[in-house]
Amino acid sequence: MAREIGIGMIGCGVVGQGVLRLLHDNARSIEARLGGKLVVRRIAARDSGKARDPVVPLDLLTYDPQLVLEDPSVDVVVELVGGLEPAGSYVRQALERGQNVVTANKMLLAEHGHELIELAESRGVDLYFEAAVAGGVPIIRVLREALASDRILGLRGIVNGTSNYILSRMHDEGLGFADALAAAQAAGYAEADPTLDVGGGDAAHKLTILATLAYGARIASSQIPTEGITEIEAVDIEFARRFGYVIKLLAVARSLETADAASDRDHAPLDLRVHPALISERSVLASVSGALNAIYVQGEALGPCLLSGLGAGSLPTAVSVVSDLVDVGRNVFAGSRGRVPSRAFRGEHLVERPVRALGEHVGRYYLRFSVLDRPGVLARIAGALGAFDVSIEQMVQRARSTSGEAPVSVVMLTHAARERDVQAALGEIALLQHVVERTRMIRIEEV
Ligand code: NDP
Ligand code: HSE
Repeated sequence: MAREIGIGMIGCGVVGQGVLRLLHDNARSIEARLGGKLVVRRIAARDSGKARDPVVPLDLLTYDPQLVLEDPSVDVVVELVGGLEPAGSYVRQALERGQNVVTANKMLLAEHGHELIELAESRGVDLYFEAAVAGGVPIIRVLREALASDRILGLRGIVNGTSNYILSRMHDEGLGFADALAAAQAAGYAEADPTLDVGGGDAAHKLTILATLAYGARIASSQIPTEGITEIEAVDIEFARRFGYVIKLLAVARSLETADAASDRDHAPLDLRVHPALISERSVLASVSGALNAIYVQGEALGPCLLSGLGAGSLPTAVSVVSDLVDVGRNVFAGSRGRVPSRAFRGEHLVERPVRALGEHVGRYYLRFSVLDRPGVLARIAGALGAFDVSIEQMVQRARSTSGEAPVSVVMLTHAARERDVQAALGEIALLQHVVERTRMIRIEEV
């Protein structure tokens, strides 16, 4: 009789139905790769009135997740509910019972990943989560396995499909923010609570996971300075284009180690941040548009490495979930569960690393001022910037309104400056006469 791995799914929405579709359509090639079958034994969802993809076997559907968790024929529980609770309780219960777990839940991993992985380790089972970062892009396996030989100097990623989709449609078609978000939701890219996407929280959850895998660091997502795209306006996209830039929501992780041989490179501070950034239109990340994600990794020995692909959506995400199921199945058959540490590093080697405060960031900045077009106003802005050592590299002013009474936009790009100095200067500028709105500040990232 063919060997079988019993699957129990909790959650049968956008990703869950994609998983069932792949398990159905690719059953033969999966079996050939695994040396056994992945057999779905039970599926739990919440709403009995909901229409499902015809590939969902209705006879396996239950509305009681306990029936999945307590089914002795289930070897792997696939958690595709999302959020902290009740998803976290389902995952804990499964691990406690000695079931392997596959999840796409980045929020749960960012908030409770260490506890859950340690629970899995203590029970001798696997907890895999390739789909949790960048959907179908296999960045977790690359950091965990392919780059286990190298040291990661830094990575910069576009890791939220919804935000990238919104910014792309605003940039390419001039679509408004709300319409672009509605289209991303209709396509199944957005979180149940889309403020996680557009507010940067989802990208910060993913960066928390990436930082652990890249640096063996215990990081809490609350340590990551996070800004989303909700304040990006069409006018910023237009000005950025005039200067040769595009605006992307970036997740950045860099080790701030020094070349000093005496310094402890494995405990050096980390630069971790999520925010919109102007990147050159010639950058490798500039053409990553729509729901595509990309992670540009800088290895010490490898040099640069770019991974790109669809970061959200039913089937791309399901590819990662089902690949995890194949991996777990292989481990079960080989009796080698726990062979590859979930966090890339063995637990006893994980370290605490400080996260540098954003005020210490040194970089270039895009500043858009809204001013009444009066003599001397630009000189006073330039003076305030200069007083804090912030020097202007380029400047452009939008044409004056016919009446001269409506505010005009003045955009300045700065030379490299320390962020706390820029913020201090902006504080002074906010008090100037004829500066009528809060100044829009967007970091410029060299990538
Ligand atoms: P959906 O909202 O489409 O699906 C969630 C599923 O969970 C639904 O089937 C829902 O039931 C079920 N559910 C909700 N609450 C419960 C509960 N209390 N008990 C049992 N089942 C419950 O979400 P997605 O499929 O989009 O996302 C699932 C996970 O995958 C999330 O963690 C998400 O962050 C992650 N993810 C999503 C991606 C995407 O592109 N959508 C990409 C990468 C990761 P019902 O169907 O009856 O409503
Ligand atoms: N809401 C997420 C995104 C899904 O848009 O990237 C993939 O993690």
